[in-house]
Amino acid sequence: MLNDLEVATLAAEAGAEIARSAFNSTYVTEFKGEVNPVTAIDHAAEAAVFAVLAEHRPNDGVLAEESGGVSWEKGRVWIVDPIDGTVNFLHGFPHSSVSVGLWEDGSPIAGTIVDISHNEVFSATREGGAYLNGCPIHSSGISVPIRALVCTGFPYDRNERAEDYLPAIGALLRNFQGVRRLGSAALDLAWIACGRLDGYFEYLLHPWDAAAGLLIATEAGALVSDLQGRPYRLDSKGIVAATPGIHEALVSAISPEIPARLRD
Ligand code: IPD
Ligand code: CA
Ligand code: CA
Repeated sequence: MLNDLEVATLAAEAGAEIARSAFNSTYVTEFKGEVNPVTAIDHAAEAAVFAVLAEHRPNDGVLAEESGGVSWEKGRVWIVDPIDGTVNFLHGFPHSSVSVGLWEDGSPIAGTIVDISHNEVFSATREGGAYLNGCPIHSSGISVPIRALVCTGFPYDRNERAEDYLPAIGALLRNFQGVRRLGSAALDLAWIACGRLDGYFEYLLHPWDAAAGLLIATEAGALVSDLQGRPYRLDSKGIVAATPGIHEALVSAISPEIPARLRD
């Protein structure tokens, strides 16, 4: 019988295979909002992930972006983002992923993120460390904010609420060496884990964006919190993930810029 991490990896690989074979091809695209696309490939990748979970873990719950599902807070739940970075995928921009995380009673157990366009598989188990293609990974040793490369992302209501989201970006620009917006929250967290990025901040993620990446980043030694520096929950109003040397600086930089509706 496969262990939980093996199931997560098999499932994420199955989704990634579908996405890879459709990269740069033609497929049906719909819109969940003005700038929030969902393609036939998101659905097909999710179905491929589900098939693996149904075969190997038929009694567990599932929560997935395109099909919904059970609450992430109770029991064993597989939390699935079939393509994280759909806008990139749609444009042939080679930076998107499949994310599969297993949570039990509100805590992460195992997770895998497969980079669809590169030969990279990030994985972790609770207290078992984090890995890239089977090799241990660690967050960076950076401790000086102005030497840190940070990234961010924007929620899908960014068009209507740009003025809410921009002040924090100003804080990143003023306090850190460089700021990136790469377009896959799961890979943002995976790249914190392997030290390519030193910090990451974003408002209003969904559970499937962070379910696997939170564990991978944490197991690699990074700190993952909400906007106030408290432990991150999958329903927090924002995420701050960083190598320990700059986590506090990142929380402090963003703190004065958080719009009132996202403070709690
Ligand atoms: C999105 C990506 C993006 C982030 C958005 C997410 P999707 O996920 O992770 O980087 O900025 O907040 O919704 O829609 O491509 O699965
Ligand atoms: Ca996502
Ligand atoms: Ca998605």
